Amino acid sequence: MYQTLLTSLENGILTVTINRPEKLNALNKDVITELASVISEIENNNEIRSAIITGAGPKSFVAGADISEFVGLSKEEGENLARHGQETVFNRIERSAKPIVAAVNGFALGGGCELAMSCHFRLASDNARFGQPEVNLGLIPGYGGTQRLVQLVGKGRALELLLSGNMVDAATAAQWGLVNHVTTPDELLAKTRALLDTINSKAPIAVAHCIAAANAVYDESQNGYETEIRAFGESFATDDMREGTSAFLEKRKPAFTGK
Ligand code: COA
Repeated sequence: MYQTLLTSLENGILTVTINRPEKLNALNKDVITELASVISEIENNNEIRSAIITGAGPKSFVAGADISEFVGLSKEEGENLARHGQETVFNRIERSAKPIVAAVNGFALGGGCELAMSCHFRLASDNARFGQPEVNLGLIPGYGGTQRLVQLVGKGRALELLLSGNMVDAATAAQWGLVNHVTTPDELLAKTRALLDTINSKAPIAVAHCIAAANAVYDESQNGYETEIRAFGESFATDDMREGTSAFLEKRKPAFTGK
């Protein structure tokens, strides 16, 4: 169904593998278009509870936007490229009501680091390397990297990466809060799936509310505390809240229905 992505659905987890290993999974127009489609699939398919984004091959998650597509672009075309990517893919991943997690299996550079950062959180294999090397090309990130890197690692560390183009290894990325867990390459997907199995056993509406409220921290158009108050109130109108509290009091496991 997709030309540049492999997808597989198991236990409610959609694994999306960006599959251009000969180009280190660089994000060309086709990958961006298909990622937009796969996000719609995640939004609309009730069998999908959460998703993993990873890269094909042992070497790279995503080594950036496809540099060959930058040649000869005008100022307006550059602006359109960034806006289109942010609106159709990166912002939608961040705002997805269903958890989308990056399993970073190698280079996460430029648009690859930005893709990982748009996910709700990140796990990495011990060979992963992160960086925003756009400055080497006379460019800057265009898919939200200047914003999300500051959010995740703080301004000083973000500017060090943005200005130097240097890469950091997985251990440093973990120490800086860019990734939550580091595993061996062999264990990366299993560990990511195990974490999503845990999340998928929770009440889906509560999970979605947590994502929306956490995103509100970085959204100047909302008061995040107010967003939390409203979402907390809305939880009381759900079957799953009644089920969760009853199950606790009756000392049994809850059976959530997503309603
Ligand atoms: N866009 C387009 N093609 C890319 C790419 C990108 N972002 N990153 C890698 N490729 C291609 C290479 O051109 C090469 O293609 P070829 O075999 O047809 O020549 C192939 O992927 C393998 O990459 P190569 O550079 O040979 O691998 P390497 O192990 O020597 O180096 C990197 C790996 C990641 C250090 C290097 O590929 C690199 O610096 N890539 C660009 C990273 C970048 O600047 N990203 C930000 C883009 S805005």
